[in-house]
Amino acid sequence: MSNQPIGVFDSGVGGTSIWKEIQKLLPNENTIYLADSKNAPYGEKSQEEILQLSIKNTDLLLEKGCKIIVVACNTATTNAISYLRANYNLPFIGIEPAIKPAALQSESKIVGVLATKGTLSSSLFNSTSENHANGIKIIEQEGTGLVPLIENGKVDAEETRELLNTYVAPMLDQGMDCLVLGCTHYPYLIPTLKSILPDHVKIIDSGEAVARQVKAILEKNDILNTSEKIVRHQFYTNVSPEVLQNFVEGVAQNISVGQLDF
Ligand code: SIN
Repeated sequence: MSNQPIGVFDSGVGGTSIWKEIQKLLPNENTIYLADSKNAPYGEKSQEEILQLSIKNTDLLLEKGCKIIVVACNTATTNAISYLRANYNLPFIGIEPAIKPAALQSESKIVGVLATKGTLSSSLFNSTSENHANGIKIIEQEGTGLVPLIENGKVDAEETRELLNTYVAPMLDQGMDCLVLGCTHYPYLIPTLKSILPDHVKIIDSGEAVARQVKAILEKNDILNTSEKIVRHQFYTNVSPEVLQNFVEGVAQNISVGQLDF
């Protein structure tokens, strides 16, 4: 069982930001990653559509023998993880916006959250936000259009920079000093964000915390792979694989990227 892969899925290439943290912390683990780029962005879809896509991805990862599934997509987590946990017999790890650490670190007590419409409108997001935001003003901003730009490999294009600027400027005007990245695609925008934001604004994402959580759950279930055998990392996308390839190339050994109809 411990030899079986960790399954990871996302609406596209963004969840590789989470996969990289998992691979760094757990180098003995085999992994399988599904990039559902054909259906990106999830953030503009209805809850029912997001649920059906999440079920489709989960079924494929189960067919491939995964021992745990990481829903490396904030939108799918907030809209589907409760259903998945209730209906499948394996552990699921989800991604929730890192509002709690931001609330603890913010001095101005004004925290910005950049996320998709699907995440910001979900009840899971709203309850997390209410639970951790005692005395903190949370400014929510939809990042409409950012995911398609990243899916097209335009992480540092001028149009991406301009769009980001229009999203962060109103939050800065209101005194934000912590920006929570509430979508797993957005960590790829950190270099551009750093060039836009003043130095005192902290950028907070969930990657490392998620990897620690995956490790803890594998340990708890006694399915951590401690063998030193060579591991494989299989990436599948349902569009042409070049962009996904660029996001993961050279990160680890034994990476394969293929196209699959799912
Ligand atoms: C999207 O597909 O719209 C973004 C995925 C995410 O929320 O992480």
